[in-house]
Amino acid sequence: VVTGVSQSDSAVAVEKLPLTILYGTHTGRSEAIAKALCEQGSTRNIACQLKPMDDYKPKQLKDEKNLLVIVSTHGEGEPPEMAEDFHAFVTGKRAPKLEGLNYSVLALGDKSYKLFCQTGIDIDHAFKNAGANELVPIVMCDVDYEEDAAKWTTDVLDELAKLQPETPGQAAAEVVTSGETNTYSRKNPFRSKVLDKVRITGRESDKEVYHLELSLEGSGIQYEPGDALGVIAQNPPKLVKEIISTLGVIDNEVVETRIGKLPFNEALKHHYEITLLTRDVIQKYAEKTGSSGVQSIVDDEAKLDQYLFGHDVLDLLHEFPAKLTATEFLDLLRPLPPRLYSISSSQKAYEDEVHITVSRVRYENKGRQRYGACSTFLADRLEVDDDVLIYIDKNPSFRLPANGSPIIMVGAGTGIAPYRAFLQQRETAGQKGKSWLFFGERRFSSDFLYQLEWQKYLKQGYLEKIDLAFSRDQEEKVYVQHRLKEQQEELFRWLENGASFYLCGDMKYMAKDVQVTLLDIIKVQGGMTDKKARAYFKKLKKEKRFMADVY
Ligand code: 2AM
Repeated sequence: VVTGVSQSDSAVAVEKLPLTILYGTHTGRSEAIAKALCEQGSTRNIACQLKPMDDYKPKQLKDEKNLLVIVSTHGEGEPPEMAEDFHAFVTGKRAPKLEGLNYSVLALGDKSYKLFCQTGIDIDHAFKNAGANELVPIVMCDVDYEEDAAKWTTDVLDELAKLQPETPGQAAAEVVTSGETNTYSRKNPFRSKVLDKVRITGRESDKEVYHLELSLEGSGIQYEPGDALGVIAQNPPKLVKEIISTLGVIDNEVVETRIGKLPFNEALKHHYEITLLTRDVIQKYAEKTGSSGVQSIVDDEAKLDQYLFGHDVLDLLHEFPAKLTATEFLDLLRPLPPRLYSISSSQKAYEDEVHITVSRVRYENKGRQRYGACSTFLADRLEVDDDVLIYIDKNPSFRLPANGSPIIMVGAGTGIAPYRAFLQQRETAGQKGKSWLFFGERRFSSDFLYQLEWQKYLKQGYLEKIDLAFSRDQEEKVYVQHRLKEQQEELFRWLENGASFYLCGDMKYMAKDVQVTLLDIIKVQGGMTDKKARAYFKKLKKEKRFMADVY
């Protein structure tokens, strides 16, 4: 718990305004914003209590005077794990009346998901229903959250200042909400060089997975196994060209963007999301163009879902033509967010390098090739010695246990990346503790990512067990969860003996199915009721012995 620093710039003793800030986070962003707010609050005579949501007893709510909630939303509108209980309590039947409470919610999310900022919205509604007084209306931030978060922070602090009229003159604190602890950040990335790039799936594979090694030389950047690498992506030049010719504008026409004047083609290549279509883009397009065709998609949830999948902004221009200037077009788009990749190396093994494992996204739809912005940038358009802008995105919720205790690692596809970092770390530390890897991909012959390295670790004893699920090597599908099930007795024993369970990879299907399987294993092997098994699973999460890094 971080408590506000006491302030002694005034001879007048002024009672501090009590403020509780709760954060629920998956990536650490909400925590960073909360900490920055707390620091600023302390210079404004506010006694701040900063609490992670899973360390807060919701029954305390009725004793709060001023409460701020900073919370992100996960996947399909779900709260981050640490916010689950709090969310359930305040939206549930036993939620208390909260008249007399001043509150505000900052919601973080991603507009490309259907239920944008849903967790924050739920909590905001719940507080409103409970009769609490809203200090500042809820602010919902998209992936480029910094500006909105900074504004919310300032507004909230200004409102809180009004609650303490007797406070002597306060200096307006500078608003710092950057979530980065490294000197290099999303806003100030490091210019790295590509040291190596190799395709690690076989030629006959239907997946193109690349291993990239990037230089950190001279950066002073530090990262830990479990962290992610933020990559500043560049859009496919072909798509940029096609958009420009479809709009019929001049490609280097200078336009006003949120970061200043730029040639239109540069703006499209570096600064705006164009390979994806998000809800707000299609909504804005409907409004701007007044097209009834687009509006009919927007108005029909099922149609909209279908349209968003596999389409981009160029599809809109093709299918629902409209006369737009370059500036009007840019006004529809959101900034191009950096892409995050789980780091697949340990700095203990590669001091001046960072490695990532990238699956190239490319597919065809409606007769046109579609390219993932960042994966094709890394795989196709970057060569050895080229520059790439990067930063570290800390992931404190995916960490090796400190003492070399047992680990169970489950990964499908590129979800194997962080485990390579884990084992490199253990190898350099000489930690031969128990470790067990479950890996799933399509085919043994072409898709066994980093095969030789796992075999080496097995031989040396850094990896004790490996179980493989190659889904397409036989008639019926075999997935990692099937292997977990086959090994359930031993797996449960490992858990009982204190093992940490890691899950990395696809969120939508794999992660859900693995969790269901794990819960079932706990139930069967532990001879527990459904309720007991859930509590056991919850405890694993709480003790940070179940950790997921899913996307
Ligand atoms: P598939 O493509 O043959 O369906 C990495 O993508 C691996 O994860 C592949 O072997 C893929 O199998 C598999 N996979 C797909 N859906 C999954 C699910 N729901 N649970 C576990 N693995 C899955």
